[in-house]
Amino acid sequence: MKTFLPAIICASFLATAGHAANLTIATEPLGELLKADIARFEQQTGNHVTIVAMPSSSSEQFSQYRLWLAAENSDIDVYETDVTWPAQLGDKFIDLTDATKDVTAQFLPATLEAQRVGGRLVALPFYADAPALFYRKDLLEKYKKDVPKTWSELEATAAEIQEKERAAGHADFWGYVFQAKAFEGLTCNALEWFKSSGGGQIVEPDGTVSVNNPQAAAALDMAAGWVGKIAPQGVLTYEEDDTRGIWERGNALFMRNWAYAYPLGNSGDSAVKGAFDIAPIPAGPGGTSVATIGGYSLAVSKFSKNREAAIALVKFLNSPESQKHRALQAGFMPTLTALYDDPELVKAQPSMPAWKGLFAHADARPSAPTKAKYNEVSARVWGAVHNTLSGEGTAAENLELLEQDLTELKGQAW
Ligand code: GLC
Repeated sequence: MKTFLPAIICASFLATAGHAANLTIATEPLGELLKADIARFEQQTGNHVTIVAMPSSSSEQFSQYRLWLAAENSDIDVYETDVTWPAQLGDKFIDLTDATKDVTAQFLPATLEAQRVGGRLVALPFYADAPALFYRKDLLEKYKKDVPKTWSELEATAAEIQEKERAAGHADFWGYVFQAKAFEGLTCNALEWFKSSGGGQIVEPDGTVSVNNPQAAAALDMAAGWVGKIAPQGVLTYEEDDTRGIWERGNALFMRNWAYAYPLGNSGDSAVKGAFDIAPIPAGPGGTSVATIGGYSLAVSKFSKNREAAIALVKFLNSPESQKHRALQAGFMPTLTALYDDPELVKAQPSMPAWKGLFAHADARPSAPTKAKYNEVSARVWGAVHNTLSGEGTAAENLELLEQDLTELKGQAW
């Protein structure tokens, strides 16, 4: 009873003092994951929080958020935002610099810097993310193959093991699954093919449109050659979770996916529990491995009528306790530096140091040079890439058109 009383008094004091707020947070579909943290927040503050679960595609989240924010919607107080959005949506979010100055030193510096625009901290990093090549240890051992370091090694190994597994009766087996739906995830895959092959990063840091070059075209033709051969035709409609479904049924040798897929592949009724590991994304001819920086943050809307409470929620959900809970439950990689040395966490998620290494070397999408136009740029990129993968035009043709589109978008300046 003794221990309960202060919490009750505190909650009712806040409520009667008029401080209790009804908050709404828009997030990815995180399922039950956020509910436990939110329940603790509600208990400690007396506030009530409603979760609005958005579609899983980052591109669809962006379109909806942009509409709400343009309409100065005050129904959503907190937005979970993708790493590429600060320049596009940042002016609709409050500057968190002062409100978070007591905690910012705890964050991985790069994740924090990515959320600053024009000197304003527009969101607080919620989890860090990078992709890896997931591979089946058991099958590489069975067929005496090495983990591929290049795309051509991946292609050859995928084709050979796919053929042998099918001959052995595993009819649904595929060599490689990746995300090739026309959405943000495809831009990430394409950036990795281009840059790892010496084909640049679509738009360079100085704003130059570089995507129309022979190395990028060769990389894209290579990927187009996978569809229907080592990857199912269906990849053209796959987001991350679609590839994870095939993977967890044991029907793929290799998968490109983000950090969240690791603990999930080792839990529940996954058929590949304990049978896989991760490696860096392969490199192209003469290039090096490239992994796109991902991750999400939490931002407070300028149009929120409950700013103080919304800031408190953002800080609470990014506290060591909440981040640790999400990392333990679902492998969401922390943005708080100290958690990477937390013994309980390291024991439960042994892949954490490997992911931390991948974040350190990950490459940004061209959101900084294209500023407020990044989403339009990315939509043109995934469109041109999707056309090529679907057999509508060659890579060279589509990259030439893409160059024209991006140059037009650029106008005088981004
Ligand atoms: C992951 C990444 C995010 C990226 C998305 C693309 O969720 O964390 O940054 O935009 O995948 O599908």
